[in-house]
Amino acid sequence: MTTLSDVWPVFGLTLRTPRLVLRPVLDQEIPAAVAAARSGIHELGRNPFSTPWTELPDEELGPNMARWYWRCRAECTPESWTLLLGIWHEDEFIGCQDLGAKDFAALKTVTTGSWLKQSVQGRGFGKEMRAAVALYAFDWLSAEIAISEAAIWNTASLGVSRSLGYELNGTTRMAWGSQVETVQHVRLTPETFNRPDWDLRVEGHNPVARFLKVT
Ligand SMILES: CC(C)(COP(=O)(O)OP(=O)(O)OC[C@H]1O[C@@H](n2cnc3c(N)ncnc32)[C@H](O)[C@@H]1OP(=O)(O)O)[C@@H](O)C(=O)NCCC(=O)NCCS
Repeated sequence: MTTLSDVWPVFGLTLRTPRLVLRPVLDQEIPAAVAAARSGIHELGRNPFSTPWTELPDEELGPNMARWYWRCRAECTPESWTLLLGIWHEDEFIGCQDLGAKDFAALKTVTTGSWLKQSVQGRGFGKEMRAAVALYAFDWLSAEIAISEAAIWNTASLGVSRSLGYELNGTTRMAWGSQVETVQHVRLTPETFNRPDWDLRVEGHNPVARFLKVT
């Protein structure tokens, strides 16, 4: 029988850390993602995202999130891809960690972005999930650089980066909705990576590598 992962290999990918499971969000799991986001991700008025999607009214948040999940899937090609991974802890959906790239075959560079619901922040999950995608990028996809960025005041995100060995890579001023933010860019290589003391368990890698033409 042909399964959904046979048709869309990304759905077969699972990354496991000691406490977390990272895997693509299926349609039936979008409500759990919306509920987690609606429970609160950040202090009111302190938006850590370049697109202020968390400030949408309730009736727009769900459609906006669903549209984003579907867009990431629809636009996923070897030339430009985003693996949008949901985060589960003890079978509860707690956040998202994405891993993306443009022209990966030439640039060997990945980008990341993430969020956790506020009630589980500050327990090391953010570091664990970013370490998971950095390990996957370096050890399985043969990436050479992982970049990220955060508002200069985002001490939690920059704390994860510092702790994993990212180096500061300059600042820029960017328009975030109607706000102007100073954004700190950070950069990690296999040489600077503070590897965790646990092993990443990966399922479903080979079909994903073929699908994304990663050799
Ligand atoms: C950013 C985020 C994913 C980090 O996850 P987290 O689970 O809260 O962070 P962790 O507990 O893993 O902390 C990782 C490191 O950062 C440090 N850190 C975390 N929060 C911090 C804070 N508010 N101030 C200073 N350092 C902080 C921790 O001490 C830890 O460092 P250590 O390993 O040296 O002890 C999470 O806070 C979040 O979702 N925030 C809102 C959304 C967001 O900002 N997303 C990123 C947009 S760029």
